[in-house]
Amino acid sequence: MCGIIGYVGRNDATPILLEGLRRLEYRGYDSSGIAVMNGSQTIQVRKKSGRLQNLRDHVADSPAEGDCGISHTRWATHGEATDENAHPHTDRSGNLAIVHNGVIENYQTLREGLEAEGHEFKSQTDTEVLAHLIGKIYDENSDESDPQKRLVSAVREAVKQVAGTYGIAAMHTDAPKFLVGARLGSPLIIGVGNDENFLASDVSAVVSHTSNAVYLNDRDIVYITEDEFRVETIDGTASSYEVSEVDFTPEQAEMGDFPHYMLKEIYEQPESIQNCFRGRLIDEEASAILGGLNMSPNELRDVERIVLCGCGTASHAAMAGEYIIEHLARIPTEVEIASEFRYRNPPLNKNTLVFVISQSGETLDTLAAMREGQRKGHKVLGIVNSVGSTIARESDGGSYLYSGPEIGVAATKSFTSQVTMFALLGLLLGRMRHLSVDYGNKLLEEIRTLPAKVEQILQQDEKIKEIALKYIDAEGMLFLGRQFNYPTAMEAALKMKEISYIFASGHASAELKHGVIALVSETLPSVFIMPKDSVYDKNVSSLEEVKARKGPCIAVTTEGNTELEKTADDVIYIPEVAECLAPILAVIPMQLLSYHFAVARGCDVDKPRNLAKSVTVE
Ligand code: G6P
Repeated sequence: MCGIIGYVGRNDATPILLEGLRRLEYRGYDSSGIAVMNGSQTIQVRKKSGRLQNLRDHVADSPAEGDCGISHTRWATHGEATDENAHPHTDRSGNLAIVHNGVIENYQTLREGLEAEGHEFKSQTDTEVLAHLIGKIYDENSDESDPQKRLVSAVREAVKQVAGTYGIAAMHTDAPKFLVGARLGSPLIIGVGNDENFLASDVSAVVSHTSNAVYLNDRDIVYITEDEFRVETIDGTASSYEVSEVDFTPEQAEMGDFPHYMLKEIYEQPESIQNCFRGRLIDEEASAILGGLNMSPNELRDVERIVLCGCGTASHAAMAGEYIIEHLARIPTEVEIASEFRYRNPPLNKNTLVFVISQSGETLDTLAAMREGQRKGHKVLGIVNSVGSTIARESDGGSYLYSGPEIGVAATKSFTSQVTMFALLGLLLGRMRHLSVDYGNKLLEEIRTLPAKVEQILQQDEKIKEIALKYIDAEGMLFLGRQFNYPTAMEAALKMKEISYIFASGHASAELKHGVIALVSETLPSVFIMPKDSVYDKNVSSLEEVKARKGPCIAVTTEGNTELEKTADDVIYIPEVAECLAPILAVIPMQLLSYHFAVARGCDVDKPRNLAKSVTVE
């Protein structure tokens, strides 16, 4: 949420910053801006509300050149998406500029204090208040003759007064080719280059320039020049850090021949699912291995209860995880929405294992849930895609999804990999308990067939598109499923809402009769996710109930089960698979359905309105 990139080097900063913002746009796209500096001249700020193209056009009309700069793409929190509220923001003197990701919770109090001293503000943002505060402290510290030290110290003193979260980059005309960064709660990395260095919200912004990154920790203060950088704690002592290798190439973060990232990522699923289970299936033991959990077999055997925390799509994957783990390992498992868990005081005993699930590894509520679990003495493990992310670093262990970068705001491949991960976890824990060798072997076989089965579903893309177009005028859509596919229905509804802005809701099929059926009409299609499984007949009854009330029905069922063609208006087939793995297949046609539906309605599927991918604010 909000993307930052800063540059110091020997090249022209503007194209580098604009390119970095393009890669960060998934974090927010309400406005964007750059501030660049050449030598010790004035800071040139260019900023525009709306999409990045508006900023590009503005910079084309009014060029800004320099070899040092900061930039920002915004997801609005305080103040509307206007030019004035766009970052960078400057201080009273105009000599200092900052960009900020996060929320300054006490900004109103700080602002009133500054206004009492004569400061005037041009925007409604919390960030401008921080810019003025840093600038004021800088101006007052005239005893310090070294402008670099003076800027670092002003940032340090200012952030000490701040309540809330921040990832910032700051620069000052007195200190050419010098940037200061600080983080608390919002991610910030250093991209370590040759004769150039970067500050950024995440590595995707710098991956075309360098594959070396330093992931900063909360309360780190950092400064960069073109040939060095230093990481300090908030009290000014040197902080330890590691330079890590970025685990993906710039090409992987590009759209290639696809019209949207979302479609590309849907099509990557045969590979991303394979990457999730590669090297983790153990034939000799008919089990799975997840070394990153950092737990001995005895510790794993002692687990009495599992809590799964996440937000959005990750919470739906967790719901599927609850069904899968309880089915395979018989360990009581529950899902907690991360934002609820962090403020609740759930009774957890010492043998409760907490998992946090997050594609980005940066979602603030999920991060806070993890820290809350740890504070209470629990081991908290992460199921994360983004290597080096805060959750990956701070969790007590866990497993990476290895899905590669997911850039489309609507999560797709991360969901199927998260559910695959729960199948591995369920198998591992189940085989340590009652699960037979035979069942374990059967599941291993089934898991291995998933990529080819996903390919088969993708081949039906054209047919799914036709179905989407048939219902293009639908006022909304209901998604229904039972047992393992109740979470699939929830996820399918979320996809539809997120990218096409129509009303959509997911339900356990049998809940229809308890209220939802009142919504059924000729203009509200219902999508039944009903493979030929143990609850198939129950789903058939629910579908009949909708048909009896003239509601159009789309059914997703198992190949060969053609009987539904008599009752449902449209049928989509998925290959047969073990019941507990069905969500991994059944969600794919749902992703394609919402994608084609949204594209046909003219929606920007990769950048849906009001949303952002990595939600680093509460
Ligand atoms: C946002 C995104 C969703 C995502 C959720 C959790 O709401 O729009 O697509 O599922 O955050 O993200 P995470 O990175 O923690 O999985």
